[in-house]
Amino acid sequence: MTTTIETSFQSRTKQVLESLRQSGQLKHLQTIEGPMDATVRVRGYGEVACFCSNNYLGLANHPEVVAAAHEGLRQYGAGTASVRFICGTFACHERLEQRIAEFYGVEASYSFTSCWNANEAIFPTLCEPGDMIVSDELNHASIIDGIRLASVIKRGLLKCVYKHNDLASLRAKLVEARQNTELTGTIWVVTDGVFSMEGDIADLPGMRQLCDEFRAQLIVDDSHATGVMGLTGRGTHEHWGMPASAIDYFTGTLGKALGGAAGGYVAGSKAAMELLLQRGRPTLFSNALPCTVACSADKAIEVLMREPQRVARLRANVAAARVGIRAAGFTVLDSTTAICPIIVHDTAKAIAMSKRLLELGVFVIGFGFPVVAEGHARLRVQISAAHDASHIDALSRALAKLRAEMA
Ligand SMILES: Cc1ncc(COP(=O)(O)O)c(C=O)c1O
Repeated sequence: MTTTIETSFQSRTKQVLESLRQSGQLKHLQTIEGPMDATVRVRGYGEVACFCSNNYLGLANHPEVVAAAHEGLRQYGAGTASVRFICGTFACHERLEQRIAEFYGVEASYSFTSCWNANEAIFPTLCEPGDMIVSDELNHASIIDGIRLASVIKRGLLKCVYKHNDLASLRAKLVEARQNTELTGTIWVVTDGVFSMEGDIADLPGMRQLCDEFRAQLIVDDSHATGVMGLTGRGTHEHWGMPASAIDYFTGTLGKALGGAAGGYVAGSKAAMELLLQRGRPTLFSNALPCTVACSADKAIEVLMREPQRVARLRANVAAARVGIRAAGFTVLDSTTAICPIIVHDTAKAIAMSKRLLELGVFVIGFGFPVVAEGHARLRVQISAAHDASHIDALSRALAKLRAEMA
């Protein structure tokens, strides 16, 4: 028998979905029928140039990375069948964590099944009541939710938000924090290195100075910068010419430049990694990173360290694509990162433009609310080292055609 609660849930859900459909805001999943690469085979559209994946270095389908995953499967089987502290720590986890620490040049790292998980672990585990977390207003949803979770788990943990990438606003929040009598512990400042929707770069040198002045710890989620920013792809700190030691803790993903499978990590001091192992709830209550992924991500980082020219190639592609987007008559938010947002404001318009681009052979996704704020819908073009001049040319031509059709 259907209860009243079920009926009201069902009708409410139908209403929401119907209103999304009518306003053209319903998202449709596109199914890919082969590997992730510069081009992908999209069901119903055929082979199209892919400009919306996080495959920044083109390692998702790199033969050595794929072979490492095969070897991981052969050596360790299909599943860990355990959380890390019971019987889910395999030799490949140790190797990956050493590799990540070596890549950054920090003491240690600890892996998770996603960077979302890493961000859900770091704040509730490292922060205590009487601490204050100071966060950029445009930080990634996983940071926002990690902080929310921390403030529920650790009652008395203080939090505040500063204006996006605005050092004056950050300073004002740090002044307030130091005057707050409830602050008895540590101040933590947290930022994306490269912001996922804007594609802009956090002012880490300015933030480091403020953190030193106000005795705060600096956490950088470099998910969109690892493998992308800096001459050797170490990330946003390298872009600014800062040593890794200028950042207290990194969080990052293995699901973008570093092979693109899944997984995340925290990197920094040995003591903090030990605390995450002992007390991090995602570690204590959720299975370890699959061994296939630990092996493929390890290989992806090895390839990146061996072939920094991939980063240079990505940078050249980014410069060419930004020229092409502008030549097609669109304005792209200014930056040197691989995220090229074209603001169109309206969600339905962004979705319709994305659909038309796909018909024109170019895969670019439109983002609207709730991924970005209402009125800030955009197409997000993402560039990869896997692209060559013909792909970037295809992007420019498709955008120019779209522009002409919109006139
Ligand atoms: C800044 C940032 N942090 C965390 C994540 C989540 O990463 P994962 O897919 O590994 O959970 C993303 C993914 O979009 C991101 O952009």
